[in-house]
Amino acid sequence: MSLSREQMLQEMGIGPIWVLRQPQREEELAATAAPDALARPEPESVGTGARAVGDLPGAGLSDQPPAVPASKPAAATPVEAAVSAALGGAGWPELQQQIAACRACVLCQQRQQAVAGVGDLNPDWLFIGEGPGAEEDARGEPFVGQAGKLLDNMLAALDLKRGEKVYIANAVKCRPPGNRTPDATEMATCRPFLERQIALLKPKIIVLLGKAAVHSVLHEDKSLASLRGQVRDYQGIPVVVTYHPAYLLRNLPDKAKAWEDLLLARRTLRQQSQSEELTRLMF
Ligand code: URA
Repeated sequence: MSLSREQMLQEMGIGPIWVLRQPQREEELAATAAPDALARPEPESVGTGARAVGDLPGAGLSDQPPAVPASKPAAATPVEAAVSAALGGAGWPELQQQIAACRACVLCQQRQQAVAGVGDLNPDWLFIGEGPGAEEDARGEPFVGQAGKLLDNMLAALDLKRGEKVYIANAVKCRPPGNRTPDATEMATCRPFLERQIALLKPKIIVLLGKAAVHSVLHEDKSLASLRGQVRDYQGIPVVVTYHPAYLLRNLPDKAKAWEDLLLARRTLRQQSQSEELTRLMF
C-alpha cells in the first residue's frame, strides 16, 4: 500500500503506527545462529592481493579494550588497523566479499550473514544506521524491520526511495546478539568497511541515524541533541545527525525534530548542487 504525502508527513510527525522490535533473548539467538558460523572456511583473498579480513591473526577473538577517541586521528585498535590494511583500496566486489567473510570481531560468531548495505552505488544520499537486527540478519538487507518501515517513510517524505540515489548502510555489518548496541571495539573493527563504502560511494550528503553512526563516522560521543541541527563534515562531505528510527518509534515528539534534520540535509544538498552548477557555468 502506498501512502499519500500527507500520510507520510503525518507519520513523520505524529502517528505511532509501529512498535519497537523486542530484543531477542540470547538463547533464542544461539538457536537460530548458523551452526557452522565458526567453522566456515574463509574464501581466498581476491583482487589486489590484500589479505582477507577473516585471515587476520586473532580474527574473531578480538578482546581489545574499547577505544573511544573523541576525534579519530588513526586506527583506534590494532584490529582496526589490520582490517584497514587488509582492505587496501578494494573495489566494490572485493569489499563485499571481505565484509561477507569477515571474522575480525566476535559479532561474526552468531550472525547468519553480514549485511553490507543496499542501494544506488552512485548515490546523493547515504544513510547510516547502527547495525542489523534479526530481520536484517535473516534477509541480508539493512533496515527491513519496523525501524526500516519508518526510514522508508522518512525517505518518501523527502521524495526519495531506497535504491534510487540513496544508499543505506550500518556502522557494524553483523548483528549484535540480542540487538544490543555494538561496543566501541566492534565499531572500530568494522569502521574500515564503512570508510571504504563512503570512499567508493562518494555521496553528496551523509545522514547519521543515531549515536553509533555518529561515533563511527564523526568519532563523537556527545548527546544527539547537542549534535543535531548543524552540518558537520566528513572528508569534504556534509554530514547531518539525526535520531535513529527505532528511537523515534519510542519517542514520538522527536519525529518533528528528525523531520527538521532531514530538511536541513535536503537544503544542504540543494545548496551544494546550486553552487556546483554555478561554478560549472562560470568556469
Ligand atoms: N537498525 C539499524 O541501525 N540498522 C538496521 O539495519 C536495522 C535496524
